[in-house]
Amino acid sequence: MSAMTRILTGAATALALVLPAHATEYRVAVGDGAGGTQEALGKAFVAALEEQSGGNMTAKLFLNGQLGDEQDTVTAAATGTLDFSILAINNITPFSPSVGTLTLPYVILSQEDAEKVTQGEIGQQMVEQTIEDAGVRIIGWGYSGFRVLTNSKKPVSTVADLQGLVVRVPKNEIMIETYKSWGINPTPMAWGETFAALQQKVVDGQDNPYMTVYAMKFDEVQKYITNIRYIFSIEPLIVSEALFEGLSEEEQAQVLAAGEAATKASAEFLRAEETKIREELVARGMEITEPADGEKEFIALAEAAVWPKFYDQIGGKEVLDNVLTSLGRPAA
Ligand code: MLT
Repeated sequence: MSAMTRILTGAATALALVLPAHATEYRVAVGDGAGGTQEALGKAFVAALEEQSGGNMTAKLFLNGQLGDEQDTVTAAATGTLDFSILAINNITPFSPSVGTLTLPYVILSQEDAEKVTQGEIGQQMVEQTIEDAGVRIIGWGYSGFRVLTNSKKPVSTVADLQGLVVRVPKNEIMIETYKSWGINPTPMAWGETFAALQQKVVDGQDNPYMTVYAMKFDEVQKYITNIRYIFSIEPLIVSEALFEGLSEEEQAQVLAAGEAATKASAEFLRAEETKIREELVARGMEITEPADGEKEFIALAEAAVWPKFYDQIGGKEVLDNVLTSLGRPAA
């Protein structure tokens, strides 16, 4: 157990001991397994929620998609049959397309970019848009790192190397189009089916951050990693808007404060753990390859083909320009 995990677990346990009998316990769906960003964000949220509410509210994490596949949890929260969910942002995009700006390839280029966009004005606009579009409220942001490509067949460093590989992607149009821009037709598949599909060799590879590869034990079924950086994975914590609206103003403030505390803990968790997790995956036998030529070929193909295709869906080119310029980059 890492120092950070110990801190989070310890805080949760200490507070759990003093919870009043009448404490309301909420259910939090978590798509990934133990040891990744989603669990760290969830633990920090539970600890902060108990602290903020003086023990009147608590929550229980259900890891590994026990409460449903990530995209299904958005619908469940929207209809009020689920309280909270922690999931990858690409699995919210089908319900709230403007959030897709953050999964356009090569828009978010660092953890600092991810934190700046999500915790500032743009993040707040996305929170409001998601409530309107999807009936769920983003109350916290987890940060998982770049989605690296893994596969079981061969080292990949160029777009040419990719040809012939069967790669699983989430059911997310932007990601599907990105792989098409690299010349292959990816296989869209629900998150919950991915491990079995890799194991049974229905697909050769997939992409997800190091933290997720580790939490899902993909090292057992994948050998090669390519350090592409096309999407920096952001993992929102969402609450059912119906549930949120039913809380008192004081409780709403406590839930929001707990979400903010969890966001900060998640950023620290990634900074503290990612390098160690990468080394652990190598120790377990995975091989890391850097994309050739600083990834220039991947970047040029994806930006040219994918960005313009999604201007309408994300709410106009100006939405992307706003994100880029807020990060000190030229408009698209
Ligand atoms: C996906 O690939 O569907 C998601 O990124 C999985 C996750 O939440 O980690």
